[in-house]
Amino acid sequence: MIITLTLNPSIDRELAVQGELERGGVRGYRRLGDQAGGKGVNVARAVGGAGLEAVAILPAPPHDPFVQLLAGAPMRVHAVPSSAPVRINLTLTEPGGTTTKLNAAGERLDLAVEELLIDALLAERRAHWVVLAGSLPAGSDPSLYAQIVARLRAARPGVRIAVDTAGAPLAAIVRADARVDLVKPNAHELAELLGDAAEGDALEADPAAAALAARRLLDDHAGLGAVLLTLGGGGAVLVTRAGSWRGVHPPVAVRSTVGAGDSALSGYLIAAERDLPEPDRLAWAVAYGAAAVSLPGSEIPTIEQVDPSLVTTTPLPVTAAEPSEG
Ligand SMILES: Nc1ncnc2c1ncn2[C@@H]1O[C@H](COP(=O)(O)OP(=O)(O)OP(=O)(O)O)[C@@H](O)[C@H]1O
Ligand SMILES: [Mg+2]
Repeated sequence: MIITLTLNPSIDRELAVQGELERGGVRGYRRLGDQAGGKGVNVARAVGGAGLEAVAILPAPPHDPFVQLLAGAPMRVHAVPSSAPVRINLTLTEPGGTTTKLNAAGERLDLAVEELLIDALLAERRAHWVVLAGSLPAGSDPSLYAQIVARLRAARPGVRIAVDTAGAPLAAIVRADARVDLVKPNAHELAELLGDAAEGDALEADPAAAALAARRLLDDHAGLGAVLLTLGGGGAVLVTRAGSWRGVHPPVAVRSTVGAGDSALSGYLIAAERDLPEPDRLAWAVAYGAAAVSLPGSEIPTIEQVDPSLVTTTPLPVTAAEPSEG
């Protein structure tokens, strides 16, 4: 069973723009649809859609359209009543397929709601994996995820924790050195975390260098178990304390990269729930990512649309840092 916590959920609204966007111009649009989103919601939907038990914990007002959009979703939803409406994120797609995203910050979380969300997370005693995913709402303490990890660890020493976030919240988790089993940055997020944001493109283009950078993160932070580093069209690398692998999928026709990272994390978790070895978890991650980008909009692949046997995984020669002398 997998539980996800989404502190900053969103209604993802897709608009088809008539003509190319132009700064300062006027364009018509057609509404393509709304989807209940936020990274944790997407992961729970993918995992639940693969027939595994999943729970999504999130804040939302009881009658928010967000809650109605979740009716029929393949996971259990635990919505903690909040007062602020769920934010709306816009994806604008031009006729040529170029997409522009406009994300709202999200309203500040009430401290009482925050506490109820954490209580709900700690109360789920059957979880194998807890997934903390996405940005924090405006005004949250950047160390909120780090605090949640510490409380989870104290209450549930054996649970596995996966984190997919970026910037200050990710840096705070890594610095806190609490035990986190998996982080899933992309190349840009890892570069920023390592203090050299300009290196993101170079890491994305060079899987061996990317794996070395991920290894450096593990060497510097004893609490981290593994890094699933996604590299866009370049697939992904998985670096654990036991080894490193690269996973590559044959080229696919890309329709929308929205949700690719969430799908990749879901693939890893679905394989982990089946007790598959690390290289196979990587293959499932890359296969889920590739399936996600070949689907339109923010559609999350179903397990029938995913074929991990198409992914080639190869070990990378990345070793732990030499222990220092003396
Ligand atoms: N252009 C592409 N072609 C093929 N596969 C892709 C492409 N972009 C992404 N993928 C697949 O999706 C996975 C995740 O993509 P990416 O590295 O872009 O995640 P991300 O930046 O975290 O995404 P998100 O914006 O959803 O958080 C990749 O590992 C790969 O499997
Ligand atoms: Mg991502």
